Amino acid sequence: EKDGHDWFMRKEIHEQPHAVADSLLGRRTPEGLLHLDEMRLTDQELRSIDKIIIIACGTSFYAGMVAKYAIEHWTRTPCEVELASEFRYRDPILTPSTLVVAISQSGETADTLQAIRHARTQHSRVLAICNTNGSTIPRESDAVIYTHAGPEIGVASTKGFLTQLVACYLLALYLAQVKGTLYGDEIGNVLDQLHEMPDHIQRVLDGEQQVYDLAKEHTGSRSVLFLGRHAGYPVALEGALKLKELAYLHAEGFAAGELKHGPIALIEQDLPVLCVVPPQGRDQLREKMISGIQEVRARGARTICLVEDGDEAIAPYADVLIRLPKVPVLLQPLVAVVPLQLFACELATLMGHDVDQPRNLAKSVTVE
Ligand code: F6R
Repeated sequence: EKDGHDWFMRKEIHEQPHAVADSLLGRRTPEGLLHLDEMRLTDQELRSIDKIIIIACGTSFYAGMVAKYAIEHWTRTPCEVELASEFRYRDPILTPSTLVVAISQSGETADTLQAIRHARTQHSRVLAICNTNGSTIPRESDAVIYTHAGPEIGVASTKGFLTQLVACYLLALYLAQVKGTLYGDEIGNVLDQLHEMPDHIQRVLDGEQQVYDLAKEHTGSRSVLFLGRHAGYPVALEGALKLKELAYLHAEGFAAGELKHGPIALIEQDLPVLCVVPPQGRDQLREKMISGIQEVRARGARTICLVEDGDEAIAPYADVLIRLPKVPVLLQPLVAVVPLQLFACELATLMGHDVDQPRNLAKSVTVE
């Protein structure tokens, strides 16, 4: 049942190329248009949307953070992302032209469910991104985009997260198509790039031994930091969450630009800092990231840098380089998070923890 893997989580990490491919399947019409079968909102309803609010918890919330970059960039529609547990309690501004997007792998998370119920009382439209057919959240939503990850057994979400990202990109492109904010061939180009992602993810998985060796060197670490910018920031947060959940280690993710506003005081000799470096071509972002890496290294940190293949500028400041396939910045989370999942899974295994059933956690959190 674990296909020769020691944990469901490790099996599910390795299923990601497949899960991403399945989540992309059948989304294009013969005319080359993007088509979402469970999108029950009409084009007219979608054109009237003037604000998007994404609500989710945990890893799904980080998928929502990535989605915000894609939605605002491609559709020019303002988009907020909020933790479901905070949403209802701040009297959010919701109108019939607000689209609330609930992201939930299980479809049963109580905080997220209560948040969409609240949105519906305000007559906002609700769209669910969900991996579980017929679960409560999609049943109570106006529209659904199902991810096709297959059942996720490991408590820590992995293929659930990657397929949520795919669904978010598809939603953003669909809105761009309906609203006319991208040309058909621009949408086609991104779809082509998405279809290349399963091979890219597979290449990252093929390099897993490097990450396992790295984990072996860190079984004695007491704390690990993660840095990212732009779409790499939620990846940093997700890398930290995985380590907390599985290895019970203190781990924190930061937006790299925030370092100098406080967190840099945490840096001490040999502290591992994993850095998600934006791809080349996004040079402003990348150069700022590089200077952040220089700063932490000058203070003794051990810098482990996830960088695009062929990017040599970081090499002088990196103790370890993990190479990522060349992909656009908005899609980079699909490849960048994979080494972080492998790292947490392996470190927890080496520390003797139960990776599939971490202490104190449940797969679906049905209490608020
Ligand atoms: C982390 C993890 C949790 C879930 C969160 C939301 O690995 O699994 O943080 O992401 O509980 O769950 P869903 O997506 O089922 O609503």
